[in-house]
Amino acid sequence: MASVVVIGTQWGDEGKGKIVDLLTGHADCIVRFQGGNNAGHTLVVAGKKYVFHIIPSGILYEDKRCMIGNGVIIDPGVLLEEMEELRGHGLPVTPARLLISENAHLIMPYHRMLDQAREAALSSGKKIGTTGRGIGPCYMDKVGRVGIKAGDLLDFSQFLDKLQANVEEKNFFLTKQYNAAPACFDEIKAQFEAHAERLMPFIGNVSVELDQARKAGKNILFEGAQGTQLDIDHGTYPFVTSSNTVAGNACIGSGFGPAHIDEVIGILKAYTTRVGSGPFPSELPEGDAIGDELQRKGGEFGATTGRRRRCGWLDMVVANDAVRLNGLTGLAITKLDVLSGQPTLKIGLSYTVEGRRFDQMPSNIRQAALAQPVYEEMPGWSKELSKVRDFSELPQQAKDYIRRIEDLAGVPPMIVSVGPDRAETLLLRNPFAK
Ligand code: IMP
Repeated sequence: MASVVVIGTQWGDEGKGKIVDLLTGHADCIVRFQGGNNAGHTLVVAGKKYVFHIIPSGILYEDKRCMIGNGVIIDPGVLLEEMEELRGHGLPVTPARLLISENAHLIMPYHRMLDQAREAALSSGKKIGTTGRGIGPCYMDKVGRVGIKAGDLLDFSQFLDKLQANVEEKNFFLTKQYNAAPACFDEIKAQFEAHAERLMPFIGNVSVELDQARKAGKNILFEGAQGTQLDIDHGTYPFVTSSNTVAGNACIGSGFGPAHIDEVIGILKAYTTRVGSGPFPSELPEGDAIGDELQRKGGEFGATTGRRRRCGWLDMVVANDAVRLNGLTGLAITKLDVLSGQPTLKIGLSYTVEGRRFDQMPSNIRQAALAQPVYEEMPGWSKELSKVRDFSELPQQAKDYIRRIEDLAGVPPMIVSVGPDRAETLLLRNPFAK
């Protein structure tokens, strides 16, 4: 029995979906603990394409229990759509297979409206490049103690009281501050009456159930969203998301005790990408031949917004921030195959900012934007890797690249991914095999 946390070490889109899918095969419960439908990943199973934004992909297995923890924020319309899509694939989502925390906050229509209005009002250098899904405004209401929780759907008069107060306040900002259209109380009420009826059977206490699962010796997989540099406290603020993306939040965002976590796996893409604005020291700017090649070969478009991801070299400053902030016990190195064909690879070792050396991402955003990586170079390899099924079959240069990452991070690789398919994976150590 083990409890394993999987998080992204960079700016999200590291290929967590595939690794989570692989580990789900060994887990009994799969838990999301932060973020909302700003996240997204696509899985192809038996020729069918599934896109997930909220529900853990473990829902594809009939015998797994999927949970949405209190740290997640839920847009009920999107969740119900995702359920409908699964039903269309012949996979009805039942309360036996999905549990939603009563303490998870709801993304309301006015959160989306405010998110979009705020972004539109920012000048070009200040735009965060949010996904426009209402993430920031929803988390603001949560910490501002005026949020509406999934549990409020079970007590509709309480829901309506909160809705009334929120619509009044939000409409003030929407109309007076942003010159935007107001939200309509009656419309939201009607929508959420219907949502409540459908979601009610799924809402319960995730923390209690996780405790029971742990005591019963079940394997529990905590599935992070986004990546460490998008963490609200530890990332490149303000160009971050509005939740804690680091492993510690697996406990807070689900109601699970920290002493019960056995492993923390960091997903590290073999190069770096970022979608949205903000500092990216090892970026190869659009138009750079290598950056464009990584973007093309890696299919680097966001699963949620379809935006082109910015691409760059592997940055061990970013990786080592993740090692420290998450207490990583293993690395899953993804998309190694995308580097095939590059004659020379660069790895960022530290930064220079205004003549000063940094071994961590500067917390001052102006300095982070000025950071120049100090690189080392390694020879690349030409062999395509998608047929490789064992570490020993990798070209020597690819083995050296991985070993160099291990040396620099001080954390061993557990998984190496050489292609998008489930089979295109080298599992060096199974974290659930204790
Ligand atoms: P928000 O989470 O929609 O508020 O967006 C804040 C920042 O986080 C933007 O730069 C987004 O592009 C980025 N972001 C949010 N979710 C993801 C994700 O799942 N992958 C990568 N970037 C993300």
